[in-house]
Amino acid sequence: MQNSPIGIFDSGVGGLSVLRAIRTQLPNESLLYFADQAHVPYGPRSLEEVRSFSETITEYLLAQGAKLIVVACNTASAAALHDLRKSFPNTPFVGMEPAVKPAAEQTHSGVVGVLATPATFQGALYASVVERFASGVTVLQNTCSGLVKEIERGAVDGEKAKQILESALRPMLGRGLDTVVLGCTHYPFAIPQIEAICGDSVRVIDPAPAVARQVERRLDALSLLNPEPNGNVQLVTSGNITQMKKLAPQLCAHEYPVRGVRWENGKVK
Ligand code: DGL
Repeated sequence: MQNSPIGIFDSGVGGLSVLRAIRTQLPNESLLYFADQAHVPYGPRSLEEVRSFSETITEYLLAQGAKLIVVACNTASAAALHDLRKSFPNTPFVGMEPAVKPAAEQTHSGVVGVLATPATFQGALYASVVERFASGVTVLQNTCSGLVKEIERGAVDGEKAKQILESALRPMLGRGLDTVVLGCTHYPFAIPQIEAICGDSVRVIDPAPAVARQVERRLDALSLLNPEPNGNVQLVTSGNITQMKKLAPQLCAHEYPVRGVRWENGKVK
């Protein structure tokens, strides 16, 4: 069990920003990463639909022997984490929640911006973190519509991505923004572009390192940390294998093996 993999999933390559941080934090661990690129983007979909994908992917990862599941997707965490914990009571889960708490603690101007998908903003999880942690702070929101698609096609440094970020961030800067929360796991790949627009005085919060530390704490508490230095990484996609083989090394600075799966009658084969 200790040398079983950690299962990680996202709608696409976004969760690789979390995988990267887990790899750094826990190099002994084997990681099995599922990119549901047949269905990316999740953001504009209904919470029910994302919940159903998340349940099936969790079943798949558990069938492959995963000892803990990281929902490396804010949208899937918002839509499904609560139900996943109920449906799989013996499985430890670590999910994402928009890092509004550290942002509210760190802001000097009292204005923070959250970039996340429409489904994440609709979920109860987001409303609850804002209510619990952001009193007295102005929280601005933007979905950066189309940015996930640009990142998925390897065009994060292209003109379209730049325009999307400019139109999200310029109005926020005009209102005194000094802290940006990346509430979608795809968006850390756009940090250089975000910093180019916002300048040095704005802090950008990527939650991935904190999530990786949480994974370590959970595994440690369950005595499930791998003592052997034999961790490996396997990527699985329900979408285009060739595209994943091209994009993942650019995002992770590592070449990992990629395997294809397909959805058939609501199941992953
Ligand atoms: N990376 C995901 C998130 O954290 C999903 C983006 C999408 O598929 O729309 O929300």
